[in-house]
Amino acid sequence: MSMNGGTSTAIDSRFVHHPVMVSEVVEHLSTVPPGVFLDGTVGWGGHSRAVLNARPDLSLIGLDRDPSAVEAATTVLAGRSATICRASFAQLDEVLESLGVSRIVGSLFDFGVSSPQLDRPERGFSYRHDGPLDMRMDCDQQLSADEVVNKWPSADLVRILKSFGDERYANRIASAIAAARPVASTTELADIVREAIPAPARRRGGHPAKRTFQAIRIAVNNELDQIEPALEAAIDRTVPGGRGVVLSYHSGEDRIVKRVLRRRAGLSDESRFRGLPPSASQPQPAIELIPRGSRRPSPAEMEDNPRASSARFRAFAKLGDVQSGGAA
Ligand SMILES: C[S@@+](CC[C@H](N)C(=O)[O-])C[C@H]1O[C@@H](n2cnc3c(N)ncnc32)[C@H](O)[C@@H]1O
Repeated sequence: MSMNGGTSTAIDSRFVHHPVMVSEVVEHLSTVPPGVFLDGTVGWGGHSRAVLNARPDLSLIGLDRDPSAVEAATTVLAGRSATICRASFAQLDEVLESLGVSRIVGSLFDFGVSSPQLDRPERGFSYRHDGPLDMRMDCDQQLSADEVVNKWPSADLVRILKSFGDERYANRIASAIAAARPVASTTELADIVREAIPAPARRRGGHPAKRTFQAIRIAVNNELDQIEPALEAAIDRTVPGGRGVVLSYHSGEDRIVKRVLRRRAGLSDESRFRGLPPSASQPQPAIELIPRGSRRPSPAEMEDNPRASSARFRAFAKLGDVQSGGAA
């Protein structure tokens, strides 16, 4: 974890990120009491800037594990009441404690990768641009896509392609990758995947390598394991009347988000247990879901920003006695 003191070079205007469902995020957070707003995935600062524009009485703590994002957010949010830290949202408790903050009034998690990460060939996230097999959000981390693609046993590739990419042709793709080793670059990998998929299926559902790249990226960055503890910590630290928003971009992420939020809202299947009355040991709901289900971007937003198309917005308000709350 490290704090950014505020010095930063300019942002490269060729690589911009359009924050997704920004007006819905701002609207949901508009009623929170004054205090600390935590952006667990501050990225290029678009959502945070919009939230602070609407609510100048909030101070921001923004986290990102990508140093380029920390630099960009520091520039975008210069002059605001904002502390940007290079840290994973899995370290949320540690970061807040190091800053002497015990309670927050709002939180945002906008999972996945940003456009500047995807569009810079040297980051190795994209099947469209030729680059190294990298895909690390935290450039100091050891595991990269190169190791997954060139060293992992075929069975592990099949597992991640199925669970993180919902890839129907996981076995064929894993065998083709193993047979082609060493694979040197992103476009070489994309060509191997395309050739491994039956010709009629290549023409359906976007680029044929999309699901494989998503699966490898999730594995490299261990993305799914960090979601549940971070959401639990954010909910626990939110004052009564405070609010949170979570944006996820694929089914694996959204399943975890939905399960955690429904459980904390007292709506999980376990808690209702097929119509039996709730047991005395059942914890009281900590949050209310607003809306009860998920929201999607408007058709206009999807048309303007195709990367928003898969977004699912889930949001909550913390329950409890507002008088007894209070932000640190
Ligand atoms: C979709 S972008 C967020 C964009 C941001 N909302 C904005 O308006 O610019 C997701 C960001 O989350 C970061 N990220 C992903 N996993 C993370 C984690 N475990 N901890 C902290 N940041 C993470 C990525 O590096 C990326 O910058």
